[in-house]
Amino acid sequence: MSDTAELQPQFDALLARLEAELEILPDKPDETPRSTLLCLWALAEGRRLALSELPSYAPGALSTDQSARLETLVSQRLEGTPLAHLTGRQDFLGEVLLASPAALVPRRETEQLARTTIDRLRSIGEASPLVIDVCTGAGNIALAMAGALPEARVFGADLSEDAVDLARENARFLDRERVEFRCGDLLAPFETGEFLGRVDMITCNPPYISSGRVEQMPGEISRHEPRLAFDGGPFGVGIIRKLFSSAPALLRPGGWLVLEVGLGQGPGLARSLAGQPAWSEVLQHADKRGEIRVIEARFEPPHGGTDS
Ligand SMILES: C[S@@+](CC[C@H](N)C(=O)[O-])C[C@H]1O[C@@H](n2cnc3c(N)ncnc32)[C@H](O)[C@@H]1O
Repeated sequence: MSDTAELQPQFDALLARLEAELEILPDKPDETPRSTLLCLWALAEGRRLALSELPSYAPGALSTDQSARLETLVSQRLEGTPLAHLTGRQDFLGEVLLASPAALVPRRETEQLARTTIDRLRSIGEASPLVIDVCTGAGNIALAMAGALPEARVFGADLSEDAVDLARENARFLDRERVEFRCGDLLAPFETGEFLGRVDMITCNPPYISSGRVEQMPGEISRHEPRLAFDGGPFGVGIIRKLFSSAPALLRPGGWLVLEVGLGQGPGLARSLAGQPAWSEVLQHADKRGEIRVIEARFEPPHGGTDS
């Protein structure tokens, strides 16, 4: 932090206001009143920064117009506009992505799913694995896999055209345009000969909140992020169950389905998969608090062929 900014009474006053009024949601653990203020200060100066870029940022003195803009930005944030919607930036697995109301702001907790998919892809030993990320949103998981495995053939899809547009923008932003994004319902965009029975991995962070609970989510989420990103039907697992039945047609024998699940859903969903003959190995991964948040299942067609 430069002396210039530190000396400005505006900095201290806004920091005190954020400390008193800012509600930080548990799924945004990297935000603090100070980091929020620094991101918004940078924005008032005309720079769009993600939280991870703050260590190399030295805020400068603001002009009168910039000070007024900063006051507005702080008010917008306190009224519930997500920080990532204001800055247009969000960190995911060590990379800065574009963020907007077009798609869910990628969450820190979903990095566990992305890491699991990358580890699994490395372990299967395919030189150029074929991977599909459904419910791709901003494209964060697909683009993380493609960044970690430059030879992988990575596709993503989402039902929302706006989300697909943002995912494509992110592919350009990261110079990873070899990742192809399609629009459609779950795996429908891939039900062609190129994919049927040939896919090494299907990954998904689906909507998994029950419809009734979607209404009760904090306003920062319910008023600013697409409902489609959360609503998993009456019991929250509608999309996940559809995926369980549609994935076998696309996976090659030995291919993997890897997905994020909601709090409390993991053990029941894992039991349900393990009870189906198509899945030969079902693994559950817990987060730091011991909650199962990622499930992996290995597809093995019961009679040696595919289910297609
Ligand atoms: C929880 S968000 C995940 C976004 C992103 N993959 C991430 O991890 O940040 C779920 C996504 O699923 C999409 N979606 C909801 N229903 C879908 C469906 N039937 N087919 C494809 N995508 C769907 C939503 O538009 C949203 O982008």
